[in-house]
Amino acid sequence: MITIQYAIIGGTGVYDSGVASIQKTVNTEYGKVEVDIAEVEGTSMVFLARHGKEHGIPPHLINYRANIKALQELGVQHIFATAAVGSLNPDYPTGSLVVLSDFMEMTKQRPLTFFEGGTDDVKHVNMDDPYCGNLRKHLLEAAKLHKIQFKGNAVYLCTEGPRFETEAEIRMMRKWGADVVGMTSVPEVVLAKELGMCYASVGFVVNMATGMESGPIQLESIGDMLARNKEKVNKMFLDIFSKTLDQQNCGCADSIVCL
Ligand code: HPA
Repeated sequence: MITIQYAIIGGTGVYDSGVASIQKTVNTEYGKVEVDIAEVEGTSMVFLARHGKEHGIPPHLINYRANIKALQELGVQHIFATAAVGSLNPDYPTGSLVVLSDFMEMTKQRPLTFFEGGTDDVKHVNMDDPYCGNLRKHLLEAAKLHKIQFKGNAVYLCTEGPRFETEAEIRMMRKWGADVVGMTSVPEVVLAKELGMCYASVGFVVNMATGMESGPIQLESIGDMLARNKEKVNKMFLDIFSKTLDQQNCGCADSIVCL
């Protein structure tokens, strides 16, 4: 069995890592997962397209548990993800890149946990640092080096989708303190933590959220925005993987509380 410590989960518009890879199917108790495995400067890493290679899986139907379980079965400890987001914060206009620092959740019907009770103890997972602080530190350092401008640490609000939000919902979410809205980061970030993995995510602001500008959400610019940024962000992730990452400077490997 191969062991691969590092993974990239590509969101909308990011369907490969940009380096030569071999495809592999991982069978998990939650379902099959297709991944690409690549060797970059002597380091192995796995790439997983969250929505599938053809962008055919909508956010509410993604098999998040199979995806994260497959990465664990390959030996992954560190995950970088990308996520297309809408912005609620005028300081983060369309085209911005943000590092996610915390989340709120308004999902409704997706499986949210690996912890199903039964013969196991009742388990809870700490959420004091949902997006690994150590990986975020590496991201900010690498961004400086690569001259990639991150607009800020953003609070992400996850909706069920696939519909966009109403204006009233966006007004409420702004009052709550959300900066960006998307449909996929939860439960992905939670499941990674449940399995003791470090997880960080970069948000690509592809539109202003409903009501933040006049008229309906403009989607035309999404393709361009993603194409412009995916290559440099992937390259930055790969550069970080060429360093040795450990779990000594974060609590991710030790986040479970049993009552
Ligand atoms: N809302 C929810 N999810 C999104 C948006 C949005 O405006 N843009 C990209 N993903």
